[in-house]
Order: sequence, then C-alpha cells, then structure tokens
Amino acid sequence: MSITAVIPAEGLMSCWKSPSNIALIKYWGKHGQQLPRNASLSITLNQAYTVTRVRAVPSADPGNGPNLTFRFEGELQTAFATRIGEFLRSVTPWLEFLKDVDLSVETGNNFPHSAGIASSASGMSALALCLCSLDARIRGVEEEDPETFRKASFIARIGSGSACRSVYGGFTVWGEHTDVPGSSDEYAVPLENEYQSAFGVLHDSILIVDPGTKKVSSRAGHGLMNGHPYAALRFEEAGKNLSKLMKALESGDWDLFARITEHEALSLHAMMLTSDPWFVLMHPNTLRIIEEIKNFRKQTGAKVCFTLDAGPNIHLIYPAAELELVVPLLKSLEPFCHNGQQIHDTIGEGPVKLTCR
Ligand code: PMV
Repeated sequence: MSITAVIPAEGLMSCWKSPSNIALIKYWGKHGQQLPRNASLSITLNQAYTVTRVRAVPSADPGNGPNLTFRFEGELQTAFATRIGEFLRSVTPWLEFLKDVDLSVETGNNFPHSAGIASSASGMSALALCLCSLDARIRGVEEEDPETFRKASFIARIGSGSACRSVYGGFTVWGEHTDVPGSSDEYAVPLENEYQSAFGVLHDSILIVDPGTKKVSSRAGHGLMNGHPYAALRFEEAGKNLSKLMKALESGDWDLFARITEHEALSLHAMMLTSDPWFVLMHPNTLRIIEEIKNFRKQTGAKVCFTLDAGPNIHLIYPAAELELVVPLLKSLEPFCHNGQQIHDTIGEGPVKLTCR
C-alpha cells in the first residue's frame, strides 16, 4: 500500500513525555544489538523528563527515507541528528513506515544536560514511544496497547540500552531473569504493583558533585567488560543481587534493599577501576558524601542509601516517610556538591502521551 493512503499530506504527529531512570541493579556489559549481559532493575523517575514531538509526512522519494530534520531545544543540531539518523535506519526493519516518510523530530529536556541524569534514557524512550504510536496508528492498532509499549521498549533499547526501562513507570526489569516472569533481553517489563508500594514513594535526591561530561562514554565502558577478568563473576552476581533486591522489595526489608543497592553501585565502579585501561569515576567529594551517608545512617537509623551511575554524582534513595529526617543530611552535604547543586526527584508513573500542538 502506498504511504499516501495511510498518512495524509499534512502528516501525522505524535508527542510523548518520558522520564529518566536510575538503575539499582546495574546493566554494564553488552553483546549483539544492544543486548545485556545481565538483567538490571531500575526506578523510573518523575520530574526529570524529555518531551519529544515527531511529525511524519509522506516522502517525495518513498523507499529511501527517513529524511530527518532534528531540533534539540529549538535549535537544529547536526551532531545529535547524525546519531538519531543512524538510530532510525537501524530500527527501520521494525518500523517500515520510516522508509517512506520525511520525519521532523523536536525534543527537549527539563533538566540541564550536565546534571548527571541519563538524558539518553528519557530521550530514546520518548522518541521510541512517538515512533511506535505513529506505527500503531498507521497499522490501525491501538496506540496505548501493551504491545505498543513493548515494541517501544524494544526500539528504545536499540537506541540506548537503559532507555528501554524508561518506557514504564515504577520498578522495571530489563533482561531475562528466572524470578521475573515475562522478562526478556530484548525489552523491559514493569514489576507488579506490590513492588511499588513496599517502601511507599521512593525519593531520589541527586547530589551533583561534578556536572562535567563523563570521563568514559557508556559505549566504551560497556566495551571494557569484554575480556574483563572479573566480568563473568560480575554478571552472575548481578543476577543474584536482583533476586535479593526483589525479596527486599516484597518483604519491605530496607536493610537488605540498602545493602544490595550500594553493593551494586560500588561493583559498577569496581569494574571500571579494574578494567584495562582503568577509570576512576568518583571524585574526592563522592567518597566524602558516601562516608557522611554511612555515618548519618549509623547515628540516626534513617532509611537512606545511595547509588551511583557511571560518574561521580550520588543518588540518595529514601522512602518519603524519611524526608524530615533526611533534610538536615541533604543540607549538610551541600558544601560537597558543585555550587551546592541537588536535584530532588521521586519514583514516577512513567511516560505520558501529550496532545500535539
Ligand atoms: O544505557 P547505557 O548504554 O547508557 O548504559 C547505562 C549504564 C548504567 O547507567 C551505568 C547502568 C544502568 O543500568 O543504567
């Protein structure tokens, strides 16, 4: 069927808002077309998000698309556009309409690029949701069907592995794991509601130690796990840690939750410390803050723990009920943050489809 039969001349539009996520069980190491070496588990955030609008119009040169115009925060961006163009070509086997359209993508984040929040996760998730919504409409299927979300998670994964978890709210697992029915290496699955409520609403206060660009890109970091002397053990342990974390979530065992979460963060950094070449991704203030958190927990018994991404910034995780207790800790940590910068977020309900304007 000709594309003009399914897309009107003025085009079709789709607009989604998708949040970032932070992994508690870390994905670090991949193979094939962005497939994980171990299962990971994350919480989807609430306030750190990307909004993306995609418009597809029938191409004057069908079969050779997509022809892309890409704007980031209102500006034409050639470097990003090249990456997005490559991504679009790589997902055309699953989104065939792309070959026959001119695509205009407009996107923006509501958080600073350098805040240590995974913008590729929210960005690729929002873009994948827009594309899969258009695909569903073109194929005449329900846009917000579970199948459309699963496809969006699959497509987001090809753009950036961890992005596939941002397609769902709450706690999300990506990677096949015996304890998670329906889990897959190809897309993420949301955990059942019982997991969302074990500790009430979880908070994530991001303590910005250094807002600069990453010392090692995700791609290079994952690559360093190939041939890493401890890799096999790490992948096995991540699976075991995921089981333990699920138990902690089910039973509401905070001590176990905190132990596993921190162990995972430090294991990720240990992998980078012992890779060849090695990378020290923490800063002196990262270590200082970690010590302060440990002491504070010992003194007050507060339910608070930390996780880290592949960088120096700290994510302080705690249940909403601990907020009052945690406020003085946050205040005392300001001197170790870059310009005192902290971003306060919580676990969220996941992406939202917006009305296109
Ligand atoms: O999705 P990527 O390729 O940017 O890798 C993300 C890796 C970590 O953020 C360090 C861990 C994770 O599971 O999100």
